[in-house]
This record gives sequence, structure tokens and C-alpha cells, in this order.
Amino acid sequence: MTTMPMDLFSKQFHQSPYTYYKEIRDHHPFAKVKIHNGIAHSWMAFSYEAAEAVLRDERFIKDMRTVFPDDVTAENLTPIAHSMLFVDPPDHRRLRSLVQRGFTPKKIGRLRGRIEEIAQEQAALMHGKEQIEFIEAYAFPIPIIVICELLGIPSEDRLDFQRWSNVMVEVSDEPSFNEEFETAMHEFHHYLEQLLEAKRLQPKEDLLSELIQVEEGGDRLTVRELYGVIMLLIVAGHETTVNLIANGVLALLTHPDQFEQLKKDPSLTSQAIEELLRYNGPVEFSTDRWARESFEFMGQQVKKGDHVLVSLASADNDPNVFKEPEKLDITREKSPHLAFGKGIHFCLGAPLARLEGEIAIRVLLEAFPNLALDADLPELEWRQSLIIRGLKKLPIKLR
Ligand code: HEM
Repeated sequence: MTTMPMDLFSKQFHQSPYTYYKEIRDHHPFAKVKIHNGIAHSWMAFSYEAAEAVLRDERFIKDMRTVFPDDVTAENLTPIAHSMLFVDPPDHRRLRSLVQRGFTPKKIGRLRGRIEEIAQEQAALMHGKEQIEFIEAYAFPIPIIVICELLGIPSEDRLDFQRWSNVMVEVSDEPSFNEEFETAMHEFHHYLEQLLEAKRLQPKEDLLSELIQVEEGGDRLTVRELYGVIMLLIVAGHETTVNLIANGVLALLTHPDQFEQLKKDPSLTSQAIEELLRYNGPVEFSTDRWARESFEFMGQQVKKGDHVLVSLASADNDPNVFKEPEKLDITREKSPHLAFGKGIHFCLGAPLARLEGEIAIRVLLEAFPNLALDADLPELEWRQSLIIRGLKKLPIKLR
């Protein structure tokens, strides 16, 4: 077994991961990678086949307490680790079922009018301007306002949420980073304590009030899990759709033929969203998984306790599944992309993200048909994250 070098902490990697994936995927569909100066080793699935197999295999589990019972306890885990994304059945089923009802395509479909209104308002704020920083002006506010309204939290506090959730998905080798992480978690927790207290006294018709009632009502949700699910929804709502919209606009602006086709036929928008999710989706890596036991997997010997990640971005560019994957084709038929994951942890927010993406892109193109990139491609900087693929800034000319 060879160990492949892959410095997830490096700027070079985040600037062009697809080049790396193309070189590695054929020869090492499932390989042990040395992440960052050899400090950590992980298995990583690069091919579509390996990615799908990891996500579906129940021997790759999420709860660290099962594999490291002596080191990891409920007390020393971060609150988000008590959410559905970091536990296994039967707890996973119980936690997911508590919020699933609120995220069905039918329920989310009812938000269409309100999302449209928010997108129109954000577009109106950009009118009259020549240039903007697109993430701050448009891609960020839309999903944040929506998730805050759904949960019932003040969207005025969104800059704090942004700071806390950025720290939770970013990586850094700066010595001060651990301290920054601890401070952010502490502030986030303190904020939630106050918010929950206010909601307990005055419940409203929102998801947070509903969850509090479930927690108060008995044995279906513990206080730790309540914090976990709220943090997960806030982070998921802040870090993902923003980058679907921004990465998507970047892909369209750098493929003028596709951009023109979409403007001519806006009915292609929801199909285009699927291709934008595949082509340069916002979630580059799955979250952590651990081998529950030792076993052979795709010709490799995996040991109990090994750490496993899936490169969703590499899988979605696998030529064995997607014809000419490096080509952006907004008319691509039925794409089985893995941008929302697969298996029991398949993204709960997928119907919401799809709807927000579709509305945000359509409203933008209607309002600013002549928008263009206001930077050279190599100038754009990608964030250093172990999960998210997103730009730090996206300068756009509106006219
Ligand atoms: C384009 C936007 C989005 C993408 C690409 C995305 C992607 C993903 C992926 C890949 C996973 C599975 C991770 C894994 O298995 O390790 C996931 C899980 C999840 N996502 Fe999303 N997500 C998006 C938006 C959202 C939104 C808006 C919400 C809700 C507010 C959300 C809530 C969740 C939740 C709760 C889970 C955990 C599900 C479980 O463990 O059963 N996501 N998402």
C-alpha cells in the first residue's frame, strides 16, 4: 500500500484540486493519504465506485465513541457531535426523524414565494452599482435569511453565525487557530443558551420552538442533542448553499456558451443546478467516518479505528460515470452526482438547497443579464476547508 501525499492545509491544493484528483483517481480509487506533513493519515475514496461504497457501508461509522471508548466521551465531544450527522442508528434515525418533517420537498415548496421575495430584495439592493463582492452582496444573505426564518432566529446576528460556522469548517496550521476555535465554540454555545431561554419563555411557530418542546416533552431529545441539532442546521445552512450559488455563478461566467443558453431558456435552471452541484459543488469532502472493525475494502486492508473521508468532488468528476466530466453541460441528463452524499446521511436540506439555488440564479440572471467576472481566474482565492469548497471573495461587474 502506498501513501499518497495530499496537503489539505495547502493553498496549492485548494486552488486546483481537480488536477490532483485526475492524476490519482484511476490508479488509487481508495487510497491512504498523508494529510498535512504526515501528521495524520486517512483513507480517502476518490473514484465514484469507492465513494458510493463508503457512504453506503455500515461498517464505516460516524460516532467516535464506538471506536475510541477510552478517549472520547459525551462530555469531551463538541455539541455538534451530538447531532444526527455524527451518530449511527438507532440514534441517527431518532434524531433525523425529529426534523425530517420540516424539510420534505412539499413543505419546502411552500417557501418558494418567500425565497423569491428575499432574492428580489437582495437583487434590488445591487441595482445602480457597477461592481460588487458577490458573496457578501447576494450569495450569502439569501440562504442565511431563509434558514434564520425557518429556525426562528434573528438574521441580524448573521455575521456572528458566519464567523462561528466558518471556524467550524475551516482548517489552519496557525498556532492561534485552536484558541480561535475554542473561543468561537464558547461564544456560539453561550448565544444558544440565551436564545433557547428566550424561546422557552415565549415559544413561536418555528422549528426551534418545536424542538424545545420535544426536548421538554420527555425522552426523545436530550439537551446536548438539542444544541447539536441547532448548531448543525445553522452551520449547514450557512456554509453550503452560499457556495452553490457563488461556485455556480463562477462556473457560468467562465463558460459563456452555457451562460447564454441558460439566459435564453430559464426553464433549464433546475437542471443546471444539478450540473453546477456536480461540476464544482460546495461540499468537497464528506464528514469523518471511522472503521468499526478491520476488514478488506476495495482491495485494501482497513483497520478498526481508521479514519475515512470521501472526496465527493473527485467522485463527481469520475469519467467512468460522467461523460466528459470536465465539461460544464447544463443540459446533462439525470446526473447521479454525490454532491448531497448518499445513504442514511444523505443531505436533509437538499430540497431547500435546490430550491434556493434555482431561485437565486434565475432572479440574478433576470436582473443582471450582463454580469461578468471582475477578476482574472488565478486571482480568485479558495477557502482552506476540510469540508467546504468555496471562494473567499467573488468580484463581479454588474454592467
Ligand atoms: C447545496 C447545498 C448543500 C449541500 C451540497 C449539502 C451537502 C451535504 C452532504 C454531502 C451531506 C452528507 C455528509 C456526509 O455524509 O458526510 C449533508 C448532510 C446534511 N445536510 Fe446538507 N448540504 C447542503 C445544504 C444543506 C442545508 C441548506 C441544510 C439545512 C439547513 C442541510 C442540512 C444537512 C443535514 C441536517 C445533514 C445531516 C443528515 C444526516 O446525518 O442524516 N444541508 N449535506
